[in-house]
Amino acid sequence: MATATAPKRKTSRSHQTKMLIDGKWRDAVSGKTFATYNPATEEEIAQVAEGEAADIDLAVKAARKAFDSGPWRKMDARDRGRLINKLADLIELNIDELAALETLDNGKPIAESRNADLPLVIDCLRYYAGWADKIHGQTIPVRGNYFCYTRKEPVGVAGQIIPWNFPMLMVAWKWGPALAAGCTIVMKPAEQTPLSCLRMGELALEAGFPEGVINIVPGFGETAGGALVDHPGVDKVAFTGSTEVGKIIMRNAANSLKRVTLELGGKSPNIVFADADLDAAVDGAMLGLYLNQGQCCCAGSRLFVEDKVYDATIEKLARKASARKLGDPFDPTTEQGPQVDKTQFDKILGYIESGKQQGAKCVTGGERFGEKGYFIKPTIFSEVKDEMTIAREEIFGPVLQVLRFKDIEEVVKRANTTDYGLAAAVWTRDIGKAHGIANRIRAGTVWVNCYDVFDAAAPFGGFKQSGMGRELGEKALDNYTELKTVTVAMD
Ligand code: NAI
Ligand code: MG
Repeated sequence: MATATAPKRKTSRSHQTKMLIDGKWRDAVSGKTFATYNPATEEEIAQVAEGEAADIDLAVKAARKAFDSGPWRKMDARDRGRLINKLADLIELNIDELAALETLDNGKPIAESRNADLPLVIDCLRYYAGWADKIHGQTIPVRGNYFCYTRKEPVGVAGQIIPWNFPMLMVAWKWGPALAAGCTIVMKPAEQTPLSCLRMGELALEAGFPEGVINIVPGFGETAGGALVDHPGVDKVAFTGSTEVGKIIMRNAANSLKRVTLELGGKSPNIVFADADLDAAVDGAMLGLYLNQGQCCCAGSRLFVEDKVYDATIEKLARKASARKLGDPFDPTTEQGPQVDKTQFDKILGYIESGKQQGAKCVTGGERFGEKGYFIKPTIFSEVKDEMTIAREEIFGPVLQVLRFKDIEEVVKRANTTDYGLAAAVWTRDIGKAHGIANRIRAGTVWVNCYDVFDAAAPFGGFKQSGMGRELGEKALDNYTELKTVTVAMD
């Protein structure tokens, strides 16, 4: 995955640190700023405008005006699509700079931001650019002499709150369908990683989006995020983050009955049968858990391995995990960078401690790496029991739990014994068994003999407490449209 171009630590331009409201870059009404840090060095990168309720109010008013009376509303759908494509082109043109910015603010290895995150961002925007003029209603054969048809209209102002694990990709997942549908946007990026979102705001202006269509208010969850959820001018809230905050958002959005979509946490089962290609399964388990420092909502954090191959699997996993290259995320050969911040770092080390205390066997890792930066060694726990905290709660770090199972009935039941239901995977050469498991696992995504295969066209989202609604694919357009029925009496 090494990148051909030399990674740059700093971009040639200075970082955009203001908020984007009504097409202009502004300071916070309060004048407040907050620091964003480089998690590899623990050093401050920049001070960023700290939005609160007053800023959210300005942004929502701008988005409201752009939606109700701006040129956006009257623009041909095909031209909306062209603007989204233009944004994708500008991102592609600046791909190295954007990848470097993402790595600087988030800590993810440059090989990943340059060769995975950014290509997925561009692909997602192009996919939704193509949808803009293909959002069709229907004609309905009703009784009587009436002409009845439906229209899919934009839902209005979308409030979008995103996390820090895939900062730019989350922007693309949220902006793509919202803009294709004709909505206007107020986005609140995560306080840990605001910089790439702000840079995308600059590129959106350059692409020619009319003022007020895309507004960005950086700030903290309870203040800026909370104000966005409460604002009466917002028609729809889209959130990605913790299940805990997802519940708060759903509760608060109920006051004004805003449409809500939620993409939340997970504790995804990854099931390896003895008849699988074991080397492929081990590679899949490594990717499924350690990608992005384990900070993935769909991380395969419960690895169920059939008894017969359990010891062999642990051995292969341990060899690979201890060989992973940690360090400077700007080194193109680095495989694992730091966790995003001290809070996450401390939380993960706490889970590692609880695993040790509750009797799981720490096969490798189990401690921090180095003395500076929030690095944690790739960790594997074997002999994990279902009731242990590390087998139940989302760790969101490079900590793999390996559980032992004997037969299909048992593993299906145990895999489903969780409040979450985001993703799952199964590894077997028996196609009937694979489909059987895919049908019976209560999760929004099931991978068979693969893991973390994402595509802009394939819907993604959670069963149970992993969320509501689906992102990506045609399905995500429903999140940003209202259905209108028009009935016309005919002569
Ligand atoms: P979080 O859910 O608190 O933050 C996600 C976003 O929501 C951020 O933009 C934050 O500012 C905002 N937010 C927080 N409280 C809010 C509120 N009351 N109203 C409106 N917006 C609010 O997640 P956090 O604290 O960063 O991470 C905690 C845990 O959540 C992680 O350890 C991980 O387990 C999980 N998580 C899951 C993610 C996913 O992709 N599903 C992404 C990030 C975190
Ligand atoms: Mg939080």
